[in-house]
Amino acid sequence: MAERNEKKRKRIENTQKQQNKKQDGEVKKEERDGSSEEMAKKGQEIQAKSNPNKKFKKVFPYGNYKSYYGYRIGKGPEREEDPRIRVLKKEWFEGKDCLDIGCNSGVVTIQIAKKYNCKSILGLDIDSALIEEAFWYLRKFVKMEFAEKKNTNNTNVKAVQDVNESEQCTNKSSNEGADNGSSHQSSCERNLSDIVSFRQENFVRSRPHDKQYDTILCLSVTKWIHLNWGDDGLITAFGKIWRLLRPGGVFVLEPQPWSSYERNRRVSETTRSNYRDIKYRPDFFREMLLDKIGFRRVEVVTSDLSGTRTGFNRPIFAYYK
Ligand SMILES: C[S@@+](CC[C@H](N)C(=O)[O-])C[C@H]1O[C@@H](n2cnc3c(N)ncnc32)[C@H](O)[C@@H]1O
Repeated sequence: MAERNEKKRKRIENTQKQQNKKQDGEVKKEERDGSSEEMAKKGQEIQAKSNPNKKFKKVFPYGNYKSYYGYRIGKGPEREEDPRIRVLKKEWFEGKDCLDIGCNSGVVTIQIAKKYNCKSILGLDIDSALIEEAFWYLRKFVKMEFAEKKNTNNTNVKAVQDVNESEQCTNKSSNEGADNGSSHQSSCERNLSDIVSFRQENFVRSRPHDKQYDTILCLSVTKWIHLNWGDDGLITAFGKIWRLLRPGGVFVLEPQPWSSYERNRRVSETTRSNYRDIKYRPDFFREMLLDKIGFRRVEVVTSDLSGTRTGFNRPIFAYYK
């Protein structure tokens, strides 16, 4: 009897081990192939299967993922440039006032400011912890920039380059001043903390801003607005963006496809119920923005972004006011 029980116990243990292995394999495969959204969902499903009584791991109801960029483009301030940045046009940013809605931990906001020399860029996110992280990264970037400049000054050959560069900066600044009458300086003279700022804000519910912008970015955010505040929330956000843009301004939109909504619809009761009621799916955004909101025209910035992780290869559009 005791022997039979022992055998039975071993059999159960083995089955459990095999199940765990299979689940580990599934998680690893998702880490390789899937988006972080898929990973979050899969992780929850696996947890629910293996221990239905245990509480789920942290969910991210607004797409407010921690380590989002660690997953997309690597860790640390020296991480790779986000592949979306290379398809954006310099003229949308250089010497312009910009707004980045749903900036997460601010990495793309900072990379844009650095590469395209914005006059100003404000990153907004609903999650205050992400905004704190964004400020932390900004301080890191500024320190790195400072160290780079110091290094440059310490090298004789580089010193000559510095002179040339500073001459270029001066010329560029004065030309820019002459061109558009603005008083903005080039990034050679200002450090990033003069250009970049961050603020916690729920863009759908916040009061109107007291300034307008030349360029507004909304990258991989519409699904979260849509799921959390429904069609009304999305229309509110689009209308607000239109009003915040100066005439001739550009709205850079990277919407998530409808297929990806399904994966996240269960992050909360609200998203579950909004998902069922959504009438204006992403395929309809173009018509909504042009015919109802009032944008003049749209340009497809990219329909296929090579070099992006699986699940992040989404089209990007530029809507002109
Ligand atoms: C998937 S992330 C995209 C981050 C970044 N825009 C990018 O593409 O690299 C979505 C971000 O939008 C933010 N978000 C969602 N709803 C928001 C709202 N109503 N107002 C401000 N931020 C919001 C989330 O906190 C999250 O950081």
